Amino acid sequence: MEKKNIDWSSIGFAYMPTDYRYVSNFKDGKWDEGTLSTDPNIVLNECAGVLQYSQSVFEGLKAYTTEDGHIVTFRPDLNAERMAASAARLEMPVFPKERFIDAVEQVVKANAAWVPPYGSGATLYLRPYMFGSNAVIGVKPADEYQFRILTTPVGPYFKGGAKPITIRVSDYDRAAPCGTGNIKAGLNYAMSLHAIVDAHKQGFDENMYLDPKTRTKVEETGGANFIFVTKDGKVVTPKSDSILPSITRRSLIYVAKEYLGLEAEEREVYFDEVKDFAECGLCGTAAVISPVGKINDHGKEICFPSGMEKMGPVIQKLYDTLTGIQMGRIEAPKGWIHVIE
Ligand code: PLP
Ligand code: COI
Repeated sequence: MEKKNIDWSSIGFAYMPTDYRYVSNFKDGKWDEGTLSTDPNIVLNECAGVLQYSQSVFEGLKAYTTEDGHIVTFRPDLNAERMAASAARLEMPVFPKERFIDAVEQVVKANAAWVPPYGSGATLYLRPYMFGSNAVIGVKPADEYQFRILTTPVGPYFKGGAKPITIRVSDYDRAAPCGTGNIKAGLNYAMSLHAIVDAHKQGFDENMYLDPKTRTKVEETGGANFIFVTKDGKVVTPKSDSILPSITRRSLIYVAKEYLGLEAEEREVYFDEVKDFAECGLCGTAAVISPVGKINDHGKEICFPSGMEKMGPVIQKLYDTLTGIQMGRIEAPKGWIHVIE
């Protein structure tokens, strides 16, 4: 199969329509059989649940070309499970796990020419999503839904790739106590748009959100979880009921312990302790692990010893091991790599 003629190494994190997307509709209490479509547009009723009351959830995962030429995805079962939890929280029907994985396989196979080659630095990003599609005017869940997966080739989420970024402590909250911060709902991202536009205006790459109840503990950024390294080499990630349970973060904890022999713990992290960490990074499907060099707290700077030029040594090892597993250079734990073809 011939790949598309794209300068893969120069693409950023932006939408580029590919040939096929997967579509399935939920009506009269059941999902239809689903199909691949060449049409990137969606026609909706003006009163659709998603347009009026933001009833939408989504996921993000990537397809990789491995060193030996296979196309694989990373732990798609966990995306299916998380999407089911997100859907349940917003009173939406669950798209069954085996159908989710089948849809991932179909859409990646159909777009194989768009999966960036091994070593190009790019990957094919998959965006499964679901939304209320029929008309609702009273505040209630829709009766009809559409599940889709679009794909788009992507490069690094932050310009500059592995160069450390600067973030600021946000005065806005992205989640509420007992709210929806722990699910992947579009509404959480709408909440963060003003804060990110403002952060960019002020020259910062991202926002660090603190816990919405006490503003004393580290939560996450708009699109990634935090990972810290202590001065004695222990990996620490924040635990909170209002952050997204990142698949990358869960995988990194395992990698730290089982591949690198490091101590790793998930616990509440007070903002006051952050100045004492040696390394800081953002982790997620889009972010992979993006090193943080500096945090600005209302004018006061926390500069990590790892500096602004390169990743710290422990985060570098985590990055190399995780991407090595994803690209087939390092043997993966059982069930992590889903071979498509
Ligand atoms: N936190 C938020 C708010 C996100 O949007 C994402 C992206 O999916 C993550 C964390 C990272 O999660 P994952 O590693 O499963 O991609
Ligand atoms: C992902 O990492 O898949 C996300 O959904 C994060 C988003 C900010 C792009």
